[in-house]
Amino acid sequence: MRRFSAEYLDRTREGMWADRTALEPLRLASRSSVLDVGCGTGELAAALGNETDARIVGADRDPDLLAYLPPDVQGVRADAYRLPFPDDSFDIVVCQAFLINLPDPERALAELSRVASESVAAVEPDNSAVTVESTVASESRLAGEARNRYIAGVDTDVTLGSRLAELFEQAGLTNVQTARRDQTQTVAPPYSEADLEAVGRKARGDAIHTQRGDLAGDADALDRLRAAWREMGREALEQTQAGEYERRETVPFHVAVGDV
Ligand SMILES: C[S@@+](CC[C@H](N)C(=O)[O-])C[C@H]1O[C@@H](n2cnc3c(N)ncnc32)[C@H](O)[C@@H]1O
Repeated sequence: MRRFSAEYLDRTREGMWADRTALEPLRLASRSSVLDVGCGTGELAAALGNETDARIVGADRDPDLLAYLPPDVQGVRADAYRLPFPDDSFDIVVCQAFLINLPDPERALAELSRVASESVAAVEPDNSAVTVESTVASESRLAGEARNRYIAGVDTDVTLGSRLAELFEQAGLTNVQTARRDQTQTVAPPYSEADLEAVGRKARGDAIHTQRGDLAGDADALDRLRAAWREMGREALEQTQAGEYERRETVPFHVAVGDV
């Protein structure tokens, strides 16, 4: 089972919902109850709380993450394939960066639809369309290679965001609407503590995808990638010490909303 740390979720979602335009199709102001499944530390639930006075419940199988939920979000430890709620319990059931982590996203979507009385919404990335720009010449190419090996190596579809509308229609959801929110994170001077840690990890050659499963490829190819990665990391560290390192990563998130 893939696990996520609160620190990772906090860092990777930073600023994501400062602009909530892509959440408009969720029509949150008209809802009185919301369930966020696979809520983690409640990054999406907190953003939704800014758009509605509805009762918000967050469900996740990891109790360590539920401990970080905002005080106005009620946490429930639950398995998404067997939600402990009767049919039609919530006006809208939502999830974010969740279906991409499941071996059977169709089954989870059916369960989300069962407990929704009005709508289901999902916010999911397409990891095949991530872009990285960097002042270290090799970083974009190496990040691309690592990303492709990760996509080929994991046992779930981490590119699923781009086919959300299709999944929703197959699940029998109607009036499906889509939107997109690109999550861009930059590293630039003055560097934050988190920036410095990330560059340090790169230079040490720590796991290329720390939160992720095995990278696909034979041992020689992976050794070559790791060596090139460490070299790239050392160059990033030197540039950082000179105040010259800059990096910009964009992860495209797709939003889909459909009625049950
Ligand atoms: C990448 S995190 C996303 C967390 C949060 N939605 C966000 O966007 O920050 C995926 C979450 O799904 C949860 N999860 C994975 N499989 C689950 C399952 N079968 N039932 C409930 N939660 C699950 C994990 O514990 C984790 O919190």
